[in-house]
Amino acid sequence: MLSVEDLSISFGGLAALRGVSVEVAEREIFALIGPNGAGKSTVFNIITGLERPASGRVRFLGQDLLGLAPHAIARRGVARTFQNTEVFRRLSVLDNVLVGRHGHLRGGALRGALGTASVRREEAAARETARALLDRLGLAAVAGVPAESLPLGLQKRLELARALCAEPRLLLLDEPAGGLNPTETQALMQLIVGLREERGLTILVVEHDMELVMGISDRIAVLDDGRKIAEGKPRGIATDPAVVEAYLGSAED
Ligand SMILES: Nc1ncnc2c1ncn2[C@@H]1O[C@H](COP(=O)(O)OP(=O)(O)OP(=O)(O)O)[C@@H](O)[C@H]1O
Ligand SMILES: [Mg+2]
Repeated sequence: MLSVEDLSISFGGLAALRGVSVEVAEREIFALIGPNGAGKSTVFNIITGLERPASGRVRFLGQDLLGLAPHAIARRGVARTFQNTEVFRRLSVLDNVLVGRHGHLRGGALRGALGTASVRREEAAARETARALLDRLGLAAVAGVPAESLPLGLQKRLELARALCAEPRLLLLDEPAGGLNPTETQALMQLIVGLREERGLTILVVEHDMELVMGISDRIAVLDDGRKIAEGKPRGIATDPAVVEAYLGSAED
């Protein structure tokens, strides 16, 4: 479904990615892990059109994504959350989710201003979708409150709801468990797996929480210093000497 080929990118003198490739199959939960600064978020930024690589290719459902603007990539069915949770602080929880629906609304500014019946129908449908998502994610009770008043765990859920409101086929989650306690992380794991089943989603997840990574991933790729150093099923990755060394330093250290 997603094919990332030979990505390289530098920032100033720093090579953040050096020839990274990954292939993700439909309905797979695929984890991208590695130490801080390994290049994980940069892979997400390239897939979603926020960064342009010096070389490489990104294909999604057989189409090239490189060179497309972020909103065009979103419209093709790719949605994401951010490592640093980004909600619109003053907007209500419901309105934050509706922002995720934006790419689907066909009514332009003029039609919106005229308030035609079809625009009103689209908006009503968007609201219904958003409310159903808030229900599913346990946010229905806070639909009307400003996003900034939510604790971090719920802000992260809100960001997930917003990503899902665009009805993506591929969902990129950048550290969804960051800042969550173990109970919240367990609930999140169930939620991610459940959403994959219910929506037939393909999920690419960056995460440092190894319980989550080992618990929900079909396959894992490990980045270190801009290179892919290992790839495979959870069991093999946890004991891979190159992976252990990347995380812990060499045995001599
Ligand atoms: N826009 C940018 N400008 C300059 N340097 C950048 C930029 N984006 C990333 N980098 C650098 O590229 C390297 C890879 O960053 P990236 O954010 O992809 O790492 P990461 O694997 O997501 O790390 P973490 O686990 O800490 O989130 C880092 O050294 C980072 O400082
Ligand atoms: Mg990151």
